[in-house]
Amino acid sequence: MAKSRSSYVCQNCGAITQRWQGKCESCGEWNTIIEEAAALGVGAAAVRRGAVGRAFPLEDLTDDSKPVARIVTGIGELDRVAGGGFVPGSATLIGGEPGIGKSTLLIQACAALARRGGRVVYVSGEESTEQVRLRAARLGLAGAPVQLAAQTLIEDIVATLGSGDAPKFVIVDSIQTMWSEAIESSPGTVSQVRGASQALIRFAKLSGAAIILVGHVTKDGQIAGPRVVEHMVDAVMSFEGEGAHAFRLLRASKNRFGATDEIGVFEMTGLGLAEVANPSALFLAGRDGAAPGAAVFAGVEGARPVLVEIQALVAPSTLGTPRRAVVGWEPSRLAMVLAVLETHGGLKLGQHDVYLNVAGGLRIAEPAADLAAAAALVSSLVGVALPHDAVYFGEIALSGAVRSVGHVGLRLKEAAKLGFARAVGPPAISREEDARLTASSVASVASLVAEIAASGVAAKVTK
Ligand code: TYD
Ligand code: MG
Repeated sequence: MAKSRSSYVCQNCGAITQRWQGKCESCGEWNTIIEEAAALGVGAAAVRRGAVGRAFPLEDLTDDSKPVARIVTGIGELDRVAGGGFVPGSATLIGGEPGIGKSTLLIQACAALARRGGRVVYVSGEESTEQVRLRAARLGLAGAPVQLAAQTLIEDIVATLGSGDAPKFVIVDSIQTMWSEAIESSPGTVSQVRGASQALIRFAKLSGAAIILVGHVTKDGQIAGPRVVEHMVDAVMSFEGEGAHAFRLLRASKNRFGATDEIGVFEMTGLGLAEVANPSALFLAGRDGAAPGAAVFAGVEGARPVLVEIQALVAPSTLGTPRRAVVGWEPSRLAMVLAVLETHGGLKLGQHDVYLNVAGGLRIAEPAADLAAAAALVSSLVGVALPHDAVYFGEIALSGAVRSVGHVGLRLKEAAKLGFARAVGPPAISREEDARLTASSVASVASLVAEIAASGVAAKVTK
């Protein structure tokens, strides 16, 4: 019989080496390799028994049976990201930084679902049942028939879930705290997390329960350690937000049962997470449109239009090397827009500090924000407020040209819905005009600068 060997497993990426090393060759992380007892691998037991595989019937791609009904929690923004509710028998991983509100969101989902019937189980490996109950009471959910447990041993959890009525919805908070007796390493290691996930996913497939695994996230936004779990589950969602701001975004980065471009928007309140049906209104709240340096960007997050204010401050610098600071946007993108404004827009920014802020704590990744950022920067530099009722979008090329972006119709519709009367964008904009909006196209940053400067002159003349 084979001697039980141990192998060295990177806790960050799951790579296996034969010796201990200070640095993982696969992902480059330091001090992440830990000795773990080697698993014998799939099929090892059968080989030892000398067994031969059994043939099974294969099935057609066409299927006459009705599609399975999804498990709808009643928290609309969560169901939307799941693809219209959770699929029975599926496993979903929800990651997010500590304190972002994962446990809050999931206890709310549990309570909402349990109230509508079915067995709902919430297993916490981090908090006592008393703590979970206290939070639920604070959220006004104390009466909901959710079954609670504070357990971490996976065999016990699976046995408990398997006894009695089949559960409909199971939360395991968090997967990193779970451990199996069958595995010799400590909780949180890759083998434990993988083993526990496997056991839970198998249970989900057999019982038809939808299982949600909560995963911790490291600073750089990855699910800590076990990236392997991301491959095992059916869907991976991340719960994001800026600590100081109340809004939270739920995004799917993988979904076998739905689109990955849906986002869910929530606001953290004293009474837990509230769904935000109209994110644009949230981000534009408290806007002071009369001041120079602010432009409303008509953005799209996932498949959802989101209007947000981009604020710029361009001020003469007293420093040898002027400051460039940006919150909520890529610093490299700002540097590029500034370079294009200098080269093709004729602006002199070398002696100015530049600050750029996306209001409300949203992080924008779209290149379509270039034009709004440029408009805010020019507006601040020349001291002319942009029209209060205008939105901006478009990508800026290094040549200074304003390029077309996707979802133009969606952006215009959202702007019109929120009472904006003008949209400034790439030349293609006029073809997709919304009847309620005046769409004006700018072909280049040079014409953007000229238009903003001219509106400043016109304002002075009429005064
Ligand atoms: P929690 O769900 O415990 O976060 P996670 O499970 O992602 O670590 O949420 C923790 C934070 O949420 C905590 O700092 C306080 C805040 N919070 C509220 O603002 N209102 C509430 O009603 C609740 C329950 C929490
Ligand atoms: Mg938690």
